[in-house]
Amino acid sequence: MVDTLSKVVTIERHIIEQERLHPDATGDFSGLLHDLTLAVKLIWRETSKAGLVNLLGSAGKENIHGDQVKKLDVFADETIYKAMDHGGHLCVMASEENEKILYLPEKYPKGKYVLLYDPLDGSSNIDANVSIGTIFSIYKRISADGNGTEADCTQQGLKQIAAGYIIYGSSTMLVYTTGEGVFGFTLDPSIGEFLLSHENIKIPEKGKIYSVNEGNYKYWDEGVKKYIKYLQEEDKNESRPYSLRYIGSLVSDFHRTLLYGGIFMYPADIRNKKGKLRLMYEANPLAMILEQAGGVAIDGEKRILEIKPESLHQKTPLFLGSKFDIKTCKEFIDGREL
Ligand code: AHG
Ligand code: MN
Ligand code: MN
Repeated sequence: MVDTLSKVVTIERHIIEQERLHPDATGDFSGLLHDLTLAVKLIWRETSKAGLVNLLGSAGKENIHGDQVKKLDVFADETIYKAMDHGGHLCVMASEENEKILYLPEKYPKGKYVLLYDPLDGSSNIDANVSIGTIFSIYKRISADGNGTEADCTQQGLKQIAAGYIIYGSSTMLVYTTGEGVFGFTLDPSIGEFLLSHENIKIPEKGKIYSVNEGNYKYWDEGVKKYIKYLQEEDKNESRPYSLRYIGSLVSDFHRTLLYGGIFMYPADIRNKKGKLRLMYEANPLAMILEQAGGVAIDGEKRILEIKPESLHQKTPLFLGSKFDIKTCKEFIDGREL
């Protein structure tokens, strides 16, 4: 008997093993994640042939953030909702692409979990075949029963019980945490299964890559500008100057930062006092993953996970990466001179 199976850990098997670490888990949680992986495979199937089925190009409408909504965004948004609405694990959902919270159809049973998601991240890159992704966050409901509420969907990031992202790239990977470390699974298209490929991911203590849209330089605070100049100065002991890598898909820039170390920034600027990235759909899930991998995620002052949300679609400045790099960046934000 070929012993491949003894080495092959599918995501289903991993989720069940993770669930056994949570005594109060009822199998409900693994059912939720199983449904989510189905949705993700359907999105992967479309993203991997988008150019062939005319899913490229925009759906001709704008979302609440004023972003041009691409057809694949709409497809991904609807696919996740329809895959998750009947399993009985959720009481409510919220999506970056929908202004209001998403109630489940009356006919389906309600569960104890809440799902927030960015159905397609980096969608401005779809037509250029640059890696894009999906980001998700799972909370336990705080409302009593029946339909979930907006309060269920605007909990502090610290309350997340799981977070993850999928990156549809040269290979399709799903990375997630339930608070017991960070695990990466690579999709084997030949069997349509996500197989464990990255056991217990940890971010390097220090990197030598910084990732930011330097086109916004003139709009940043002085401290951020000084930090960028500092990274560009030569200092062999600290591997400076750092390299600049910026893909413009958060999931891709995050994934590289998680694996290689360094820092990703989307600072506030004089035009957008709260920056561009969304707290509930992007910053919180990625901050949970990063802290589980030994990294740091702040809004320039405090931990992202400690921010008390005030609205479903609020934005936040985002600085995330290796401990050493975030510490240095914070010193410049707090007034350190070059
Ligand atoms: P989304 O496609 O979900 O709207 O996210 C886009 C975000 C994020 O993916 C990326 O980090 C950022 O937009 C890039 O913004 P800029 O083009 O302003 O650099
Ligand atoms: Mn996004
Ligand atoms: Mn998006």
